[in-house]
Amino acid sequence: MSTIRIGVISASDRATAGVYDDISGKAIEETLREYLTTDFQAVYRVIADEQPLIEATMIEMSDELGCCLVVTTGGTGPAPRDVTPEATEAVCDKMLPGFGELMRSTSLQYVPTAILSRQTAGTRGSTLVINLPGRPKAIRECLDAVFPAVPYCIDLIGGPRLETDEAVIKAFRPRS
Ligand code: MTE
Repeated sequence: MSTIRIGVISASDRATAGVYDDISGKAIEETLREYLTTDFQAVYRVIADEQPLIEATMIEMSDELGCCLVVTTGGTGPAPRDVTPEATEAVCDKMLPGFGELMRSTSLQYVPTAILSRQTAGTRGSTLVINLPGRPKAIRECLDAVFPAVPYCIDLIGGPRLETDEAVIKAFRPRS
């Protein structure tokens, strides 16, 4: 069986410059390792908030590395350098606005500034791309909300079957 790969992209000028450590990108991989009993290889990149670079990284992870899932962190807000949702829309063939809607409404329980995140999700071929905000505490807050629908979404787009540890998070598959 071929290796299952999941991409993690941290879009952050400051983490790229070494101003701070990329806590959020690492938290994504740790969270996914807690959720999934299916073995996977994580492909991890910390890159500047440059739309062409973010797009190229997403395309490489999807088309060349065959990642079934790409999770981004950072660059979802309204600041001039925040361009991750634009990159996501540019590379995806279908958008899944429900992800952003659910993550924003869940995040509002934690911070009123949740509405500032333009985070979204979409599919490129057999890859699901999901944006998370950049703050480390946002990672778990957002992933816990949407992840139950992720394995079924990946089934539907022709990706590998992902199994979760039901004590941590339960995947919902309507037809099983
Ligand atoms: N969502 C959650 N769950 N937790 C948070 O702390 N921070 C908000 C928002 N969404 C936050 C959140 C803030 S302060 C901003 S500016 C936006 O996400 C965008 O963040 P980003 O530009 O780092 O992606």
